Amino acid sequence: MSFSILGTGCALPELAVKNEDLSKIMDTSDEWIVKKSGIKERRIVSHESLTDLSETAALNALADANVKAQEIDLLIYATLMGDTVTPSMACVVAGRIGAVCPAFDLNAACSGFVYAMDIAAGYFARKKVKKVLIIGGEHLSRHTDWADRGTCVLFGDGAAAAVLGEGDALCSLHIASTPNKEFLSQNFIGGESPFCKRDYGQPYIRMNGQEVYKFAVNAICNDLKYVMEEARLSEKDIDHFLLHQANIRIIDAAIKMLDFPKEKFLNSIEQTGNVSAASIPILLDKGNRSGRFKKGDTLAISAFGAGLTTGSAIIRWTK
Ligand code: UT7
Repeated sequence: MSFSILGTGCALPELAVKNEDLSKIMDTSDEWIVKKSGIKERRIVSHESLTDLSETAALNALADANVKAQEIDLLIYATLMGDTVTPSMACVVAGRIGAVCPAFDLNAACSGFVYAMDIAAGYFARKKVKKVLIIGGEHLSRHTDWADRGTCVLFGDGAAAAVLGEGDALCSLHIASTPNKEFLSQNFIGGESPFCKRDYGQPYIRMNGQEVYKFAVNAICNDLKYVMEEARLSEKDIDHFLLHQANIRIIDAAIKMLDFPKEKFLNSIEQTGNVSAASIPILLDKGNRSGRFKKGDTLAISAFGAGLTTGSAIIRWTK
């Protein structure tokens, strides 16, 4: 017993910030950003909060699944950090939508949604749940150093969700970590205690882009091969590939290394930028709502992120 995806939902901030908008406030250009990352615009939180977006994404997923919030037995929220350190975003969103169930946040950076699927699969296997809501949500515009043009142009905000029900659609799933603090990290800067004076540095995402790039291409290729082998499937059996949307060059390099057909890969990077844990569920919702996914199709998912974490899965589309 694993699970099936019953419904998906997504909510992006209203404000679309184009590369040209950024070039007016910092030393960058549309040409550089498109050439280096494939990003043309990203959605940035302005009047909304991450909680607002998450509530809408959750309600959209519930409506798509034809499931009531009261039926949800477990809510897992994948994020770097929500609107509050505590209570968790999962509890806050549960309160907003009227779900009464165990609820907790999970931080596996951009791989968080796949980690959440893995945990959910365990609950289904133990027959502890019938319906699970998983959400990936980020407001990376608040984690970003807007004086660092090397990172701030890459990220965006958003939330997306999936409702899972009992089923056997999960064919294979593999999560892993390769501990590394140097390539991609962000310090937590809280209040000062009278007992500890320490320089905690800056509270922003810091990244060695080239190292993350190399790690990501290899991780995607190895992990996809691993889960496909575990599910005893070849490229020909996979209808859609959903890769974490960090950089179109990473995706293109992986496609080249794997020698898989490009048209099988879904993309959202051009319009969303890198939305970390929300990236994979945004693609799921895109494939679902556009009618691209057909019942019986096979999806291959692969994500990587700070940690360094990775997560890949093979899922049948049963809707
Ligand atoms: O979810 C995981 C998160 N992260 C990733 O997946 C990131 C993976 N890495 C990457 O996507 C790429 O490494 C980047 C897009 C971040 C950078 O591409 P790059 O080819 O590694 O460029 P670079 O950092 O070596 O920078 C090249 C030049 C530098 O100028 P100089 O030193 O050659 O004169 C930078 O200062 O580009 C400059 N630069 C920019 N120029 C215009 C850096 N950021 C910008 C910018 N606009 N926004």
